[in-house]
Amino acid sequence: MQFELEAKDPKSKARAGVITTDHGKIETPIFMPVGTAGSVKAVHTRELKEDVKAQIILGNTYHLYLRPKLDILEQAGGLHKFNGWDRPILTDSGGYQVFSLSGTRKIKENGVTFKSHIDGSKHLFTPEGVMDIQRTIGADIMMAFDECTPYPCDFRYAKDSMEMTHRWLKRCIDRFDSTDPKYGYSQTLFPIVQGSTYKDLREQSATFIAEQGREGNAIGGLSVGEPAEEMYATTDLVTNILPEDKPRYLMGVGTPANILESIALGVDMLDCVMPTRNARNGMLFTSEGIINIKNEKWKDDFSPIDPNIGGYVSTFYTKAYLRHLVTAKELLANQIASIHNLTFYLWLVGQAREKIKSGEFASWKNVMVEKVSRRL
Ligand code: GUN
Repeated sequence: MQFELEAKDPKSKARAGVITTDHGKIETPIFMPVGTAGSVKAVHTRELKEDVKAQIILGNTYHLYLRPKLDILEQAGGLHKFNGWDRPILTDSGGYQVFSLSGTRKIKENGVTFKSHIDGSKHLFTPEGVMDIQRTIGADIMMAFDECTPYPCDFRYAKDSMEMTHRWLKRCIDRFDSTDPKYGYSQTLFPIVQGSTYKDLREQSATFIAEQGREGNAIGGLSVGEPAEEMYATTDLVTNILPEDKPRYLMGVGTPANILESIALGVDMLDCVMPTRNARNGMLFTSEGIINIKNEKWKDDFSPIDPNIGGYVSTFYTKAYLRHLVTAKELLANQIASIHNLTFYLWLVGQAREKIKSGEFASWKNVMVEKVSRRL
């Protein structure tokens, strides 16, 4: 993997760059649609490419390991072959899903034992095991095994947890560096900064992560219920320490406004379930603001969902028609709403990239944050 910085915004920490992988290039800043179980919910790969213009998608170690399981993924020749997505894939390590999804779990130095949310069966994730699983899935970018601390989290717990995450990282690196990719293209490993909302822990973690000298770095443990101001302050502090010449990935963030603010703080990659999950609940993000399409006021609005962002679905279908589909519980509603929201998110980061390159990002961002946060 390679990262090339192309431009820096003069009035903020925003950057534009290009990541090159064996599955193609990623223009940053980028939003990565979440494809938990190997599919971005309700969206075809063809639409992901042609409409949404996604450049990289996420998969989850936890879900793919439990179903379809590793033997099937290996027989398929990896996740790219299995789901037909031939652009880059990043897999999360399970360090988050194990905590949020499995009911009973036990964290020990060796790893985490947990019960499957599917059939209650018992499993163990270790740093080494999670590297092996991501080798088998065949992700272009693999994530280190970490503990994502909850919010709020007392200092002692946050410190102990961060130190364990760092020890786990060393084990991840040892395993990653002593194994080879399975499918003939290269893979890379991103470590994850933790430390809850404690300034000194975050500084310590970011310094430790930076010292590992990997090809990219991630910021975890945010967007877990803390006030937005704390999330921004922590991101700001961490991006001051992480190396400038490597991509920075802020995990699990967020709303359109969160995304623009994080880009302004020097973040290059983001992912979140929000555009797809909220689409299935009738919430649409547009260039003019946020729409609850179930609201009666849209019943006879025959204007396009969003005429400003391109993309077939967003410019062809009307708000009134989508409201009808949602009201009638038609399956097509989920499909149109999900494709639209993702098209909007990719449009937004694409605009951010253009504004960074033309030196106008900071002032544009302030106007856009206000615009995209409005409730229509
Ligand atoms: N997704 C959102 N936050 C996190 C985190 O802290 N760790 C991991 N592994 N995934 C995440």
